[in-house]
Amino acid sequence: MTVRTPVPSLNPGDTVGVLGGGQLGRMIALAAASLGLRTHIFCPDENCPASQVSSKFTRADYEDDAVLRAFAGAVDVVTYEFENVPVDAVAILEDAGATVRPGAMALEKAQDRLVEKEFVRSLGIDTAEFHAVDSLADLERGLDHVGRPAILKTRRLGYDGKGQTRLTDKDIDLHASFEKAVAFAWAEVGAAPSILEAFVPFEREISIIGARGSDGAVKLYEPIENVHAGGILKTSTAPANVSAATKAAAEKATTAILEALNYVGVIGVEFFVLPGGEIVVNEMAPRVHNSGHLTGDACAISQFEQHVRAVAGWPLGETARHSNAVMENLIGDDVTDWPAIIREPNTRLHLYGKNEARKGRKMGHATRLTPLT
Ligand SMILES: Nc1ncnc2c1ncn2[C@@H]1O[C@H](COP(=O)(O)OP(=O)(O)O)[C@@H](O)[C@H]1O
Ligand SMILES: [Mg+2]
Repeated sequence: MTVRTPVPSLNPGDTVGVLGGGQLGRMIALAAASLGLRTHIFCPDENCPASQVSSKFTRADYEDDAVLRAFAGAVDVVTYEFENVPVDAVAILEDAGATVRPGAMALEKAQDRLVEKEFVRSLGIDTAEFHAVDSLADLERGLDHVGRPAILKTRRLGYDGKGQTRLTDKDIDLHASFEKAVAFAWAEVGAAPSILEAFVPFEREISIIGARGSDGAVKLYEPIENVHAGGILKTSTAPANVSAATKAAAEKATTAILEALNYVGVIGVEFFVLPGGEIVVNEMAPRVHNSGHLTGDACAISQFEQHVRAVAGWPLGETARHSNAVMENLIGDDVTDWPAIIREPNTRLHLYGKNEARKGRKMGHATRLTPLT
């Protein structure tokens, strides 16, 4: 295993550079501020959620070499809040002397669903059956391999269920022929390099929010149970309804992933839990994760603070939970319920400062707390 060159830890008053300016960057910036650290957001979008609460904001493209180099010189460490930051941008920052945590390797593995599944499998961890698809003919062969129902996903740039389409027996009936149904699915993903996955008949979905410090220490939050609607996370619940054996298997897999990536920071690993309790990794996000938002209200140290501690080279915090919690995402028009939600007892409301409540857009979340049982 490679040993990371030790980087001096940050001091209060130092600056964490963040690539990306969405709600995750906003909540990282808020956590950094409570530890006396500044944040400098790098994002192509004006008035992004994170820039509203940060000390500094650079609006530029991730391809802008000169601006990236200036950013590298202006911050004490760099992190990212979304996984589609171009790996080339990270290479430029590193070339300009910045320390980027987690590093480029985590991005490379997580940006491409095929590379990601091969990586997870190389650690001896189960994933859905899959088949690489670069053409219509590959798709037909893939369906022979993985069976039906199956899900076709673009290898890159998918999120919140975007860039995905399902292929079931019903679709084939609807399209009158196998060939037509397959051609339709291929068009749905824009004929882009894709991966075909067997549909996993899961009983439930869980995630583990894990962290690894610059000293190699690993701390995991307990499993969180997730419900998706239309491919978008709707609710996250702690505790998850899983056995001790399932929890142990998910923890072991998360730790193996963190160590194999020589990771520094917070990661979110999504799992399917089969009816027998076995786990299958769905995907990993090399950043703070939507399902971990409840840690901000139900645990002493939030995933955002944990991430800041890790990238700053500070000791990780405890992950114990002091409340039971259900986090509900406020998606699109859901956010118009905020006046009622803010009146609910034992509920914490978080709004992301986005002006326009477009369909499918994450506008905020509410965490409903109940005493530990
Ligand atoms: N192979 C699969 N089998 C069953 N359900 C799946 C599969 N892949 C995705 N899903 C469902 O779709 C959701 C979103 O898919 P995911 O691969 O996590 O993409 P995204 O990057 O958009 O979150 C999952 O959380 C799960 O509910
Ligand atoms: Mg997902």
